[in-house]
Amino acid sequence: MRRPVEILRRARRAQVCGLPLQMNPRYRNHRGALLLLAVTLSSLAMAGEPQPAGLAAGRTDLTPKDQARVLAVTRPTTDFSRPEPFELMQGGAGTSLKDVNRDAFSQSAANITFEQEATFKPGNALFRKNWVSSPSSTQASDGLGPLFNERACQNCHLKDGRGRPPEAGIGSTSLFLRLARDASNAEERAALTEHKVLNFPDPVYGSQLQDLAVPGLKGEGRMRIAYSEEKVTLGDGTMVSLRRPTYSVEDLAYGPLDLRTRLSPRLTPPMIGLGLIEQIAPADILAHADPEDRDGDGVSGKPNMVRDALSGELTLGRFGWKAQAASIRQQAADAFAGDIGISTPEVPKPWGDCTKAEKDCLAMPNGVQERLGTAEAPSPVIDLVTFYSQNLAVPARRDIDDPDVLAGKKRFYEMGCISCHTPKFVTMRGTPNRAQAFQLIWPYSDFLLHDMGKGLADGQRVGDASGSEWRTPPLWGIGLTGTVNGNSFYLHDGRARTLAEAILWHGGEGQKARDRFAGASAADREALIKFLESL
Ligand code: HEC
Ligand code: HEC
Repeated sequence: MRRPVEILRRARRAQVCGLPLQMNPRYRNHRGALLLLAVTLSSLAMAGEPQPAGLAAGRTDLTPKDQARVLAVTRPTTDFSRPEPFELMQGGAGTSLKDVNRDAFSQSAANITFEQEATFKPGNALFRKNWVSSPSSTQASDGLGPLFNERACQNCHLKDGRGRPPEAGIGSTSLFLRLARDASNAEERAALTEHKVLNFPDPVYGSQLQDLAVPGLKGEGRMRIAYSEEKVTLGDGTMVSLRRPTYSVEDLAYGPLDLRTRLSPRLTPPMIGLGLIEQIAPADILAHADPEDRDGDGVSGKPNMVRDALSGELTLGRFGWKAQAASIRQQAADAFAGDIGISTPEVPKPWGDCTKAEKDCLAMPNGVQERLGTAEAPSPVIDLVTFYSQNLAVPARRDIDDPDVLAGKKRFYEMGCISCHTPKFVTMRGTPNRAQAFQLIWPYSDFLLHDMGKGLADGQRVGDASGSEWRTPPLWGIGLTGTVNGNSFYLHDGRARTLAEAILWHGGEGQKARDRFAGASAADREALIKFLESL
């Protein structure tokens, strides 16, 4: 763990290279010193309010000169003899330099103002709040359900980190099942091509299996997982066992599932750096898309274009395992409705995911209070939770100049991991929250969909994502999974128990990279894992 002085030294050195620095307002205001904690390319020199980037082919927020600088800074490195400038601060100026412990994912971005900190805190409280069923004596705390998976955001996003899948058998909580089917006639196909819907929910159980319900109502059913172990032999003879999950649903309370409904297991992802991801220019993400694989490298990458619920405009999906949500606000509103059964102005459904076929569910009381508006969680609640979700800091890298880590980084590049796990971006200028403007960030994701092969396929279509496509997940912070969550489970359903297992599951477009890893020497594999652990 580097101390601020060291970072200051590095930052100064970087300034010599011609990159201006931004001060951390907290240090500026409260230590009086010019403690230049971190770096941006310069939001200080921001002139006027730029146009929203929309889906323009190039970045509309930059002058040609800045565009050239951004291109130069985000170009993948070829020098692995030492860390790159600013690499330590993988979440830009907001990177948390606090000691690494169980709270490593729960820090606010280091560059938000004290006023913003005063919004973050009640946001945090609401993220942790356990909602109760209606009617209740606790004012403005009710509205849970009637069907739900959990009572609080934090109960799935454990310590703001990832969830854990249940052991084999019956389970729920931080891994749930989405329910949906593909189009089955011309009209439905048209609705999908025109992006009117993402898919078609189960006629009885809706778009998610909620295993819990308020008193007096039955939960929908229970998910069962069975694991089978499969041995894989690596190039040097090492044996690895991978566990393949199979999902089924039992104790269905409202009759059978539609035969066409596909189950898609989703593990809860960590919450860090999401506001920065939201501020990557769409053009920069789309620049990596190559749906027809024109460059013939076997890796395509395609965006999930989704309709914005409010404006009706086509926009770039970037959140969720299938990149199905365009904004953090939308994802939070969907979570309130689908996971907790709370309505918001964005998703005004106090009965959450109850369907017409679930009559008992629709007959339950809800938590709407006229006095507070027409939603169980009125605007201030969703505003605060959204702000919180946008401003959780990415922790600083560790051991970036360790020779093994540098060697592992080289392997990561050479094995082709970066064809999908894009190392760097520079966020847009003129972002609503200045803390996220023009930051050099290192998420290690292209935020695009890739066909990951049969082994990982769930068969469920979500918008432009087919049943075998997944969004490349960001890798920042992944090395702290064990520290934060006390255990580590990776991939969309948490089947991988180690980072090596996660890599060995890569198929389809990821097959070549996986084979390079499987064929590498033990020393090279270990170095690569060490690099991942330093993220
Ligand atoms: C029942 C468990 C559960 C609860 C409760 C829950 N989440 Fe989630 N969350 C998930 C899962 C699973 C995903 C991934 C969803 C997907 O890919 O379909 C997710 C994804 C997200 C994402 C997108 C993250 C990313 O990397 O793309 C955000 C933001 C989020 N949740 C916020 C919230 C907020 C805010 C709340 C509370 C209102 C909440 N969640 C409640 C399980 C949960
Ligand atoms: C073709 C694109 C592609 C390539 C190449 C690729 N990945 Fe991935 N990676 C993905 C996708 C997509 C997922 C999510 C798959 C899922 O959850 O089912 C993923 C998941 C992961 C995860 C688990 C992340 C998490 O949050 O659970 C790790 C670790 C990882 N990749 C590392 C690597 C490494 C190391 C390499 C190179 C050896 C590599 N990947 C190459 C696309 C790719």
